[in-house]
Amino acid sequence: MRTIAIVNQKGGCGKTTTVVNLAGSLAADGARVLVIDMDPQAHATLALGIDPEMTEANLYEVLADEDGRALVNEILVEVDPRIEVAPSGIVLSALEQKLSAEHAEARTERLVGALGQLARPYDFALIDCPPNVGLLTFNALRAAQEVIVPLETSHFAIHGVQKLLETIALLTERLGHDLDVRILPTLYDGRTRFARETLAEIRGLFGDMCFDAVIRQNVKLREAARRGVPVVSYAPSANGTADYGALAFEVAAAAAAELKATLQVVGEAEETEPRRVVVSFRDPGAQDVRIAGDFNGWIPDKDVQSEVSSDGSTRVWRKILCLSPGTYHYRYVVDGRWREDPDNPRVETGPVGERNSVLVVQ
Ligand SMILES: Nc1ncnc2c1ncn2[C@@H]1O[C@H](COP(=O)(O)OP(=O)(O)OP(=O)(O)O)[C@@H](O)[C@H]1O
Ligand SMILES: [Mg+2]
Repeated sequence: MRTIAIVNQKGGCGKTTTVVNLAGSLAADGARVLVIDMDPQAHATLALGIDPEMTEANLYEVLADEDGRALVNEILVEVDPRIEVAPSGIVLSALEQKLSAEHAEARTERLVGALGQLARPYDFALIDCPPNVGLLTFNALRAAQEVIVPLETSHFAIHGVQKLLETIALLTERLGHDLDVRILPTLYDGRTRFARETLAEIRGLFGDMCFDAVIRQNVKLREAARRGVPVVSYAPSANGTADYGALAFEVAAAAAAELKATLQVVGEAEETEPRRVVVSFRDPGAQDVRIAGDFNGWIPDKDVQSEVSSDGSTRVWRKILCLSPGTYHYRYVVDGRWREDPDNPRVETGPVGERNSVLVVQ
């Protein structure tokens, strides 16, 4: 299980939205996801359709006592065949007070202890954190191997994030385990010059630490939260669905890329010339067709030349790729929905159970 904490002490930067919709997109691609709501505001719990007032028990019961960890399986609520939630409640704000007499180290190990008791396997655990770096966030960082820091592209948010990264670095030293930290630009409004400049600044500052995926401002994300479902279920062709779909692929591909890097070290190096490869997608109804695969880091249409033409009433998208000989996995993004290539019978299952089309370049 990959445990990912979504952290930023700044309020309203898209932590909860990222937890809920990344969970939705990973699940839509076949992964089993556990959402852990460590915020007493219980926004992730609410955004997944659970009324925190109506739950019999929540994470407080699990974390407040040494013996509580065994309760973790009892508090889980299934909100989708592939998504379960460890719900929060306002009472969680009393945890810090409750544990104040305990040894500092032991206090931060409550969540990791509880996750060790999970009865079912999950591909991902996503932890929503409150907007401060207190005991609840420390518990999340202690339990996680990876951190996503959502960063607003619409305000002067960069300054606070440097401080947060320092805190995380200090903490990793203290915890004695590495955290893979990545920055996710959120609330992006490409129409404003300010947002474009901020995004460029974020990319310049953080380089490879920054996801290629950018989450645009999209009202469907707010509406979906109000309905209590991830955006992928509420508005499959919305920009929010496409953006969190792209993020899910990058997150899932991180494991695949590591594996590939290992395999490349093991395999023999060969001199290979890139070739021009053309794949076509035909559809009468589609408006927007993009392609993503391991050749472009699963970023739709990155490093791809596109041509659109018509064949009677059918539109034809030609995607021109420049690839070295080898085997590649890809999918189309058709009006924001990920799907395999309908004209390619060769399909393999990817790292999170998704069905990828396979392309072999000789
Ligand atoms: N990309 C987006 N487009 C439009 N609205 C968004 C987007 N991301 C988040 N929002 C909205 O902005 C508000 C704050 O987002 P969210 O709750 O995800 O932030 P947060 O970091 O979890 O906040 P807090 O620190 O209070 O927990 C919410 O109303 C949410 O619906
Ligand atoms: Mg939140």
